[in-house]
Amino acid sequence: MLKMAVLVSGGGTNLQAIIDGITNQTITNAGIDVVISNNRHAFALERARKHKIDAVCVSPKEYETRAAFNQALLETVDRYAVDLIVLAGCLVVLPEEMTEKYANRIINIHPSLIPAFCGKGFYGLKVHEEVLKRGVKVTGATCHFVDAGTDTGPIIFQKAVDVLPDDTPETLQKRVMKEAEWVIMPRAINAIANGKIEISGNRVVLKET
Ligand code: GAR
Repeated sequence: MLKMAVLVSGGGTNLQAIIDGITNQTITNAGIDVVISNNRHAFALERARKHKIDAVCVSPKEYETRAAFNQALLETVDRYAVDLIVLAGCLVVLPEEMTEKYANRIINIHPSLIPAFCGKGFYGLKVHEEVLKRGVKVTGATCHFVDAGTDTGPIIFQKAVDVLPDDTPETLQKRVMKEAEWVIMPRAINAIANGKIEISGNRVVLKET
């Protein structure tokens, strides 16, 4: 059974997609042991409590230095002895100690087709604003392993979504979530939990059943 910590910052719709996947068994052999938020008011924490999952806030505001916050975050994750850290709308840049210690054991969902519209400064609604500004006709989401860079790790799954002529950042964000993020993140977790994924350099190889 794959033990997971899910790190969040906001509404937690991706967390909900994972919880639903476990409930309806599109995700098997995996469970969420803890949800950790840097933001005390994140609705994602409510979702966790509602499903009787430990909900913990580790906020940088409560620590004097970034190093102290980083240490507390790492200690909290370590305490749960998880196999996989899932970044589901987590807006914290993870400390290097964590990306090193949990190499190939952290995944992230990003709301674009990496390597487009990703990297430093590209998160949340901002991504969709930039997509519309540039006028691309197709966008989507990417689920990938996390390394020391920003959105640079091996790609597990991607799913494309059409940009429509009357899209606003908000309508596009919603469609990318529904059609892509909530589909590929649970799928990636299920593949990892069932031993279907191998990493070869910066490539993910899906193993046959
Ligand atoms: C999602 O769209 C996710 O892809 C994005 O934040 C949103 C969180 O929504 N993450 C990033 O931009 C990371 N670079 P949620 O809290 O409802 O899951």
